[in-house]
Amino acid sequence: MPGYIDIHQRRYLGNKAKLVNKIKKIIDCACPNAKTFFDVFSGTGVVAAAFAPSMTVITNDILYANYVSNFAWLSPQSYSQSKIKHLIDKFNSFELEEENYMSRTFGDTYFSRKTCKKIGFIREQIEYLCSRKLVNRKEKAILITALIYAMDRIANTVGHYDAYRKNGNRNGELFLKIPRKIKGLSRKNKCYCTDSNRLVHRIKADIAFLDPPYNSRQYADNYHLLENVARWNKPEVYGIARKMDRSNIKSKYNTKKATKAFEDLVKNIHAHYIVLTYNNTGNKAHERSNAKISDEDIMRVLNKKGEVLVYSHSHRAFSAGLSQNDENVERIFLCKVADRDG
Ligand SMILES: C[S@@+](CC[C@H](N)C(=O)[O-])C[C@H]1O[C@@H](n2cnc3c(N)ncnc32)[C@H](O)[C@@H]1O
Repeated sequence: MPGYIDIHQRRYLGNKAKLVNKIKKIIDCACPNAKTFFDVFSGTGVVAAAFAPSMTVITNDILYANYVSNFAWLSPQSYSQSKIKHLIDKFNSFELEEENYMSRTFGDTYFSRKTCKKIGFIREQIEYLCSRKLVNRKEKAILITALIYAMDRIANTVGHYDAYRKNGNRNGELFLKIPRKIKGLSRKNKCYCTDSNRLVHRIKADIAFLDPPYNSRQYADNYHLLENVARWNKPEVYGIARKMDRSNIKSKYNTKKATKAFEDLVKNIHAHYIVLTYNNTGNKAHERSNAKISDEDIMRVLNKKGEVLVYSHSHRAFSAGLSQNDENVERIFLCKVADRDG
């Protein structure tokens, strides 16, 4: 029996699994009549999922692996849970000898060669099942999501794929679990995979929730391997970390252009409320860890749209080593838009 996984059971930098109850409380209290929740930088989708039982949710992320996973958890398309269980049971029992793209490209790096053979074979099977119309789009997304969560549990990393541990543990066994169904999803839920600044022009929602990256660490660099497996175009990879070309999935929010991008985004949002979470990282020894948008700029940009309230929540920072003892404060900015057009 494979057992179940829930949406929050994934390691993802900056995920709001621990903060989501606080975010929900603030929003439920400030926006009691809201019916649509637009998660503009959805990542794992945990925040959208918290609102999914009571509102229509719209998710978006520039990374395809996140889009697939958001679609698996939150899209309204129906699917067969017994088929998923049967396929996951079958995938878990595979024992393989043949090499494939995954073992040739990533063998004995983030995973053992044996595990890579299994990952590659399962991913190929999912493609085959879909091409023969034996699974629908939602079922395909659920199977890829189950694979991504299983890989995440045993990867020889510190939680992301910027590098693997040279002498780390690659003995974990790949074991897929069934994504537990989220009940009561709205038929109008939608998932997108595009640049936030383009998408906001064409979405109207009661709440636009913004959780952009805040430092220089590109998500495309940290999650290239999951992106590679989700897309399954089998690209060439480069360097010790074996990253594919990521030029079309890099984010402006990790660069000096972040403030300008944020200003353009907020200007074009059509929502009654804009809720932003942003970390005040202070000045770290690693320049890469410093926040890209200043508090002054956040307030200046949001104040142009309406009245702003700020809530703060203190928690230990993610740290790559040097600044282990720093305390980060995650702030929640709530802007009541003065005049939503349309
Ligand atoms: C801080 S994480 C969001 C975490 C999410 N709230 C969660 O709880 O899992 C920021 C996300 O924004 C995405 N992202 C970065 N730039 C983007 C852009 N221009 N458009 C859409 N998504 C973007 C990243 O891929 C990443 O998943």
